[in-house]
This record gives sequence, C-alpha cells and structure tokens, in this order.
Amino acid sequence: MKIIVTGGGGFLGSRVIQALLDGKDAGTGAVEFDQVVSLDLAECPVADSRVASVKGSIGDAELLHEIVTEDTVGIFHLAAVLSGGSEDDFDLAMNVNVDGTRALLEAARGIRNTPRFVFTSSLAVFGGEMPDSVPENMATQPESTYGMVKSIGELLVNEYTRKGFIDGRICRLPTISVRPGKPNSAASSFASSIIREPMNGMKSVCPVPVDTKLWLSSPNAAVTNLVHAFEIDGENIGGWRVLNVPGLSVTAGEMLESLTRVAGQSARDLVGIDYDAKIDSIVGSWPGAFDVERTRSLGFVSDTDFDQVVQQYRDDFIAG
Ligand SMILES: NC(=O)c1ccc[n+]([C@@H]2O[C@H](COP(=O)([O-])OP(=O)(O)OC[C@H]3O[C@@H](n4cnc5c(N)ncnc54)[C@H](O)[C@@H]3O)[C@@H](O)[C@H]2O)c1
Repeated sequence: MKIIVTGGGGFLGSRVIQALLDGKDAGTGAVEFDQVVSLDLAECPVADSRVASVKGSIGDAELLHEIVTEDTVGIFHLAAVLSGGSEDDFDLAMNVNVDGTRALLEAARGIRNTPRFVFTSSLAVFGGEMPDSVPENMATQPESTYGMVKSIGELLVNEYTRKGFIDGRICRLPTISVRPGKPNSAASSFASSIIREPMNGMKSVCPVPVDTKLWLSSPNAAVTNLVHAFEIDGENIGGWRVLNVPGLSVTAGEMLESLTRVAGQSARDLVGIDYDAKIDSIVGSWPGAFDVERTRSLGFVSDTDFDQVVQQYRDDFIAG
C-alpha cells in the first residue's frame, strides 16, 4: 500500500513523510501503508528504505499515471509554485498549481481504494472585505495569482470528492513560521526571516507595517495537522471539505516582541523596518485570524503562543 507525497523534496513535504514513517498521530484513523513515494522536481531528503524518490513534474500526466497505481491509499499534494513565484510567473503558476493539480486528481480518479487526498491550500484564497475571524464557508476572493490558483485547487478537490473520485481534505494552512534555512519565493518569507536571521546573528528587515496581523503556525504544528487531516474519517468532515487549520493571530510587532523575550535585545536590534509595497499588497490582503472552532473539535491543534514557536526554533535549529 502506497502513499504519494508531491512536493516530498520540499520543506513541509519531507517533514510529512518523516512524520508518516515515525507513526506520529497514528491514532484510531491511521492508514496502513508500506511505501511512500515522493514526487518532486527535487530529491526527497528522507533516507529510509520505505521511501522512493521520483524526480519529475506533476505536470507530467504520463508519469503521474505510472506512479498513482491501484495500491495507492493516499496522496498528499504539496508540490506548488509559492506566492511570490506565482505573482512573478502567471503561466508557471497556472501550469503547476492548476493543470498539475487537475492532472494528479485525474490520475487518482478511478483508483479502487478511493485515495485520501490532502491538499495544502492557503489563507491567500481570501481578500477584500473580511470579518475579524474568517469562517470556513466564506466565499474566496483572492487578490494574488497564488490565492487564485489555490482557490481553484480547493474547488477541484472538493468537487472530485463530491463525485466520489477521491476522498479529499483541504487544509488551509497558516503561514509557517519559523521556517529554517534560507528565504524562499513566498511573499510571507519575512515571517520567518525576521526571527531566524537575528537568531543566527544576521540582519533582517520587516517589509510590512508592524501592526500587520499574521496567521501563523510552527512547522511542527502544521505537519501534525496535515497528518491528522489524512487520518480522520472523511465523513466527520462533511460535504464541504475545507478545513481552517488552527494557527496563532499575531502582529509583526508582537513577533518582534517575542524575539526580544526569547533571544534578547541584541537579536531584536538586528531587525530593521524597510517597507516593501509589493509584499505588503500581497500579505496585507490576507486574513489575520480564522474561525477554527470546527477544526479544533475535529482534533486539529495549534501552538500555545508565539514565544513558544520562537523557542521551538531555537531548540531545534540553534546549536548549543
Ligand atoms: N510554508 C507555508 O507557509 C505555507 C503556507 C500555506 C500553504 N503552503 C503550501 O504547502 C505546500 C508546501 O509548501 P512548502 O513550504 O513546503 O514549500 P516548498 O517550496 O519547500 O515545497 C514545494 C515543493 O514543490 C516542488 N515543486 C514545485 N514545482 C513542482 C513541479 N512542477 N513538479 C513537482 N514538484 C514541484 C518544489 O521543488 C518544492 O520541493 C505548498 O503547496 C504551499 O503552497 C505553505
């Protein structure tokens, strides 16, 4: 029995694979499998005999049909062009995030086991006038190419589920912070840089006003929630398969206060404010809080507070 993880070479995908192998959250709904296939342009970094790393594109329909075989019990679809990259290259975003998602859904359609299909959506599907706390059934109104392609993905996964082709679970992930490594092409990349860089003795800039509200999750909580989304019974989710994944609502200024408390004033002094209108226009259009009552009742979790998220980054990634 096989689980496929697209984007398995990436940040969250590789961590989801590791969590599946470790049997984390393997509660009552755990799905049995003996192989994980990573499909990504990049090599999967997880070294384990149960993992097969296939390098290729989700735009390659022939390859998808080779990989998505009758023994497929689950698919995590994480491969994507991220927010900054999508805004810069509309055609690439359409090819990978819309055509690729549809090709993957088509490959999964007709598989005997009706695979569980976890799709990573984003708060970027929202824009325009928003209530203080965004409910799951609010109509999407994206103000970026990334939000638009994710919104189409949500509708596709929902409809393929309604038709009984797959068993979909759509996770609207918060912005992930603190992400280790280097800045990436996400417009929200600063949400990690303003903590990560100063904690490693490097300068960083905050490109949005400090009162900008962000909806955040640590990598650990996000991965736990993605695996949980896979393992819960689809019937408990209901007909509309969108899940507002729990997060923390904090301003950029509050993040910097957490940095000061955990890493000291010297770390805080390494962060400057340098307004970037392009980043602000994307990130500023995203909601800062979500209604997560239902997802909490379904067993999804969030971090306690942002100080704890910064401490988690320090404990996991700063030597010493
Ligand atoms: N990190 C966040 O803050 C966040 C928030 C909300 C949603 N998401 C979503 O979660 C998913 C994973 O994000 P991440 O942070 O791990 O990003 P990431 O960039 O680390 O991983 C994405 C992976 O997709 C791969 N990829 C890109 N184009 C591909 C293609 N044509 N074929 C195959 N693979 C391709 C990349 O090589 C990369 O390894 C994405 O769908 C992203 O939109 C992330």
